Amino acid sequence: MVTSGPQTSGSRLASRFGLNDRVFATPGARRLVGKVEEGLERVEAGLADDLRSTDRLVDATARYLYEAGGKRVRPMLAMLSAQLGDGATEQVVTAARALELTHLGSLYHDDVMDEADRRRGVPSAHAVWGNSVAILTGDVLFSRASVLMAELGTDAMKLQSETFERLVLGQMHETVGAGEGDDPIEFYLQVLSDKTGSLIAASAHAGALFSGADERFHEPLRVFGEKVGVAFQLMDDVIDLSADAATTGKVPGTDLRAGVPTMPYLLLAEADPALKARIDEGAALIADGAAPETLDDGIAALRDHAVTARTRELALEWSDAAAAALAPLPRGGVREALTRFAGTLVDRSN
Ligand code: IPE
Ligand code: IPE
Ligand code: MG
Ligand code: MG
Repeated sequence: MVTSGPQTSGSRLASRFGLNDRVFATPGARRLVGKVEEGLERVEAGLADDLRSTDRLVDATARYLYEAGGKRVRPMLAMLSAQLGDGATEQVVTAARALELTHLGSLYHDDVMDEADRRRGVPSAHAVWGNSVAILTGDVLFSRASVLMAELGTDAMKLQSETFERLVLGQMHETVGAGEGDDPIEFYLQVLSDKTGSLIAASAHAGALFSGADERFHEPLRVFGEKVGVAFQLMDDVIDLSADAATTGKVPGTDLRAGVPTMPYLLLAEADPALKARIDEGAALIADGAAPETLDDGIAALRDHAVTARTRELALEWSDAAAAALAPLPRGGVREALTRFAGTLVDRSN
């Protein structure tokens, strides 16, 4: 049985993320809002279709997290950079669908790895169907993304495969951690670039590539996306400590409880070794079967600590560096909107 797709329109998505007010605040950028939203609505309609399956279980599991929400940051970025060329061409929309499917698949896998109980305000897929079904659903989504990219030709397939390899390596390096002789902070920033920056960079790049935008803009957009991705992920580390699960749709402190490093935690090594030891001890007890609440106090202390404020600052620095990478772009609405997009991503609560 095929049920109807989600009713969320592009404009509702945009306003949910506050895009209309913030990204399109300047007069030049305001002229783009209709075009970007029209492209996003086509992405949304395409995704609803992409996620259908004749297999009843996959039909339910693949649409589960999609229908639960999501900001559609990557399609938005693709639509914005496409405005430097011919706009939301059919190819741009197809690439944006593929990149969002890749992101979605990575969430199914990530929640298994991070032992995260909630995602987008609902129980995570592995909590509902178990690890194997969650992992295999992610795999189906990656396959569908590849089929879409194949429609666009060899360059698109290469972009998809190279991006995906970086994402996987980022997750791998996060899992195994820094080695001897690695600077833990530098190592972690590289993890963020790989696991998150790669896909956001590919989104900005794809918008330019498939709208026929001037080649001179491709590299600045790619660098912009990469840096925005790091900024975005640094804010995600701050949000992981948020007390407000209703806004984040996730369980506060998920990463730390599962022993997954984040920037605030890594900064403790120098700033507050005693608190770091307390958190390590709590995470070890949880790994041995203690209740997740064991770390409630440690997480609250970290949330209010200077290292978390420092992580916010770092996110702002990376978002400023992203905006600076746009210097080769012509002045005007697109550059203004992208600059505000970078700022909006580090000033968010979910
Ligand atoms: C979450 O990404 C995973 C990260 C890479 C930080 P988003 O914050 O874009 O997730 P959704 O799509 O809005 O749920
Ligand atoms: C997710 O990173 C990155 C990928 C899915 C590749 P996180 O694990 O930090 O993101 P959240 O906090 O679960 O969304
Ligand atoms: Mg993770
Ligand atoms: Mg996670």
